[in-house]
Amino acid sequence: MTIISKDISKAISLLKNNAIVAIPTETVYGLAGNIYSENAIRKIFEVKKRPHFNPLIVHVDSLKKVEALVSEFPEKAKLLAEAFWPGSLTLILKKNSTVPDVVTAGKDTVAIRIPNHPVTLGLLQQLPFPLAAPSANPFGSISPTSATHVENYFKDAIEMVLDGGTCKNGIESTIIGFENNEPVLYRLGSISIEEITKIIGDIKIKNKQEIAPNAPGMLERHYAPSTKTFLVHDVAQFIKNYPDKHIGVLVFSKAIVAPNIKKLVVLSKKKNLKEAASKLYKSLHDLDNLHLDMIVTETFPDVELGKSINDRLERATKD
Ligand code: TXA
Ligand code: MG
Repeated sequence: MTIISKDISKAISLLKNNAIVAIPTETVYGLAGNIYSENAIRKIFEVKKRPHFNPLIVHVDSLKKVEALVSEFPEKAKLLAEAFWPGSLTLILKKNSTVPDVVTAGKDTVAIRIPNHPVTLGLLQQLPFPLAAPSANPFGSISPTSATHVENYFKDAIEMVLDGGTCKNGIESTIIGFENNEPVLYRLGSISIEEITKIIGDIKIKNKQEIAPNAPGMLERHYAPSTKTFLVHDVAQFIKNYPDKHIGVLVFSKAIVAPNIKKLVVLSKKKNLKEAASKLYKSLHDLDNLHLDMIVTETFPDVELGKSINDRLERATKD
């Protein structure tokens, strides 16, 4: 049985014994294992049903530990690390030979970040090895933002979820790599493009699979609820086509009233995109659990975290 617990020493002993443990971060929960344990890494892929070509993110608690794993650290990567770590930025850097190939799916780069969550920073400080941790959801489904989300996904397949409460940012890290020493953004996430360009100027964006063979995880359909989900500009108009359906609706700031809406979620009455992002996955989980006929979501303003939210909703609604 999966145990949800705050007991860090239990997590440490499990991880030292090649087990995998779900850990909290400020973005989403991760499914973590020792990067040097082939057993643990194999279990992560198995439990998540993740394709083997899809590499894992490595988590450490200090810049020193990052430097021990990479062979190059471009100037702009340093600026970003300084600005955003600990925090919701993942850098893809050239790895050195100490990073096992199973972790990076054979790639010569490693994705790495220092998460900003007190529980997991404490855990990483006490471990003699870094943790590989993809989001703690089965491949293709919505990422978990609470310990119970993880428990519901994996039931008996993992022994422990280290409980760190609800994830503050609620959406995955922003991923940036380098091509010819120039930064490229591969995944929109918790840190907005606007925040990134303030630090390093304009950045190329390659977050669609067809132009981003370097980020194998950017599959088109992803983050999907099991209820059929639609993304539209005008929810009120769209749902008029389905008078007999039981509909769950998710909007940014303004309530909509209609007889076929069985559940309405307003993400931020104050029109705050950060607040909306932080509640997005929890709201999708909640709506999905109601087993309605459909979920209808609204396109968000195409700025700051609105871009990241739209990216996730587009992937959640792809056929
Ligand atoms: O916020 C987050 O990043 C969370 C928390 C747990 O840290 N983790 C997370 O991991 O979202 P995951 O595995 O669900 O997404 C990581 C993405 C995948 O799309 C993967 O393909 C990509 O990062 N990735 C990992 N290593 C890479 C590499 N060396 N080169 C290119 N892409 C890489
Ligand atoms: Mg994921």
